Amino acid sequence: MATSPRAFVLRHTRLRLVPGLEEIRLHLADAVLPLWHAVQIETADPDAPLPFWAFAWAGGLAIGRYLREHPEAVAGRRVFDLASGSGLCAIAAMHAGASVVTGADIDRFAAAATALNARANGRRVAFARRDVLDEEVPDVDVVLAGDCWYEGQLAERVLPWLKRARAQGIDVLVGDPGRRYLPTEELSELASFEVRTTTELEDLDHKQGRVYALRQSG
Ligand SMILES: C[S@@+](CC[C@H](N)C(=O)[O-])C[C@H]1O[C@@H](n2cnc3c(N)ncnc32)[C@H](O)[C@@H]1O
Repeated sequence: MATSPRAFVLRHTRLRLVPGLEEIRLHLADAVLPLWHAVQIETADPDAPLPFWAFAWAGGLAIGRYLREHPEAVAGRRVFDLASGSGLCAIAAMHAGASVVTGADIDRFAAAATALNARANGRRVAFARRDVLDEEVPDVDVVLAGDCWYEGQLAERVLPWLKRARAQGIDVLVGDPGRRYLPTEELSELASFEVRTTTELEDLDHKQGRVYALRQSG
């Protein structure tokens, strides 16, 4: 890596208001393909993942809207934001009054972006930059999972982990715009929001983002 992840995020994004969640500012990119190419060069990895961290995804936007309307879901509680990306859900939880929020993502740029974004919003977010899906569920009150159901192999690992969290009495909130691997039979819909996204990422620039609670099994 030629530069630090922090410097890379700063160079390739602009700090701007999140559509529909104007109380939050994030370092965001305009175009996905040139940035993806820059990541591939920076990491010398032609298979580098998409720069998820440079966008506010529809599932995360829905969770953000839900927490603004229902701060009681997280207020005074310990929150874990799985697959943080930009840290959008983590920061929304802090805005809603969570006592402590920890983000988690496997992408080093997501860790840097979340730190920068938390700071830009005057918030603190702890971070686990590793794959936590093979680990025990942390001791928290709420798990947020924004836009995790876009890929089969990931979905197959996320669902049992979230179910373990639920079995331990943790509230699990899922935000999603109808991705292919969303396990709808395990979920109860709580709310639906029209969220503004971008045709850089989606087929349409507006999506219906839904927020669900994971049901307790058995
Ligand atoms: C579509 S983005 C969603 C980001 C954010 N939650 C939002 O809604 O804007 C999915 C994120 O999942 C992360 N991810 C993929 N596999 C993961 C894993 N095993 N553990 C944690 N995060 C993972 C990716 O790096 C990416 O940042």
